[in-house]
Amino acid sequence: MLVKATEMLTAALEGKYAVGQFNINNLEWTKSVLLMAQELKSPVILGVSEGAGKYMTGFTVVADMVKAMDKALGITVPVALHLDHGSYDGCVKCKEAGFTSIMFDGSHFPLDENIAKTKELVALAHANGLSIEAEVGSIGGEEDGVVGLGEVADPEECKKIADLGIDFLAAGIGNIHGVYPANWPGLRFDALAAIKEKVGNMPLVLHGGTGIPAEMVKKAISLGVSKVNVNTECQLSFAAATRKYIEEGKDQKGKGFDPRKLLAPGAEAIKQTVKEKIELFGSANRA
Ligand code: 13P
Repeated sequence: MLVKATEMLTAALEGKYAVGQFNINNLEWTKSVLLMAQELKSPVILGVSEGAGKYMTGFTVVADMVKAMDKALGITVPVALHLDHGSYDGCVKCKEAGFTSIMFDGSHFPLDENIAKTKELVALAHANGLSIEAEVGSIGGEEDGVVGLGEVADPEECKKIADLGIDFLAAGIGNIHGVYPANWPGLRFDALAAIKEKVGNMPLVLHGGTGIPAEMVKKAISLGVSKVNVNTECQLSFAAATRKYIEEGKDQKGKGFDPRKLLAPGAEAIKQTVKEKIELFGSANRA
């Protein structure tokens, strides 16, 4: 059954572990993430960017597919279906489509506007039983057209947004979407600690989970991060496994071109990436 993300993240904050948000792109992605979460008995969040929603022909198709697959696979662990970096309109559409959680990314607006819009969407989300994430500062790099300069969040601004009644907060702490450049200085733990001090018991979200060294991820979790978002890493492992299959000429042997065979190594690679992350985040056997 699909659930909002509030309870799983409150439990993660208390238990000092994090729940993974894995972004989905299609049926294979969804199936791989759900199966591995179930195998490891871990709560999980399926993230959908506006671009991925459009690719899958709309949020309603995504929500219907996820609900039907969750049931068909007999998934018993808690699963939240969450809009990633949503616009105001995107949040409204996902509520109507049957998502259980939304993120409003108002970080590119002046603070007053971010506050006003987040406040309206908190009311909408909570009146409909959804959880809501908001963002302060910005995540560097680009994800599906959402570009951020990577500003480190101001703790006072985080407090103002947290006080609006959101369920969890994404704060820029030097994290970047996509692969980290070789000269990346690392996460700003000083900023994370200052934000945590201001927002108290608010679960914090670490975006840009691809390629952050394991020790840094663990330290971030110990400082109050309860949700880690991973997108690019699943794309890279899917692409590498698919390339290997084709380069070995397997698509040309027998019926190796059948999509159920051609896409199988990539789907398995996604499962392995999800497994590694769930084990690193400490959410296995928490469902
Ligand atoms: P990565 O693509 O760097 O893993 O980031 C994912 C993310 O933060 C989704 O919002």
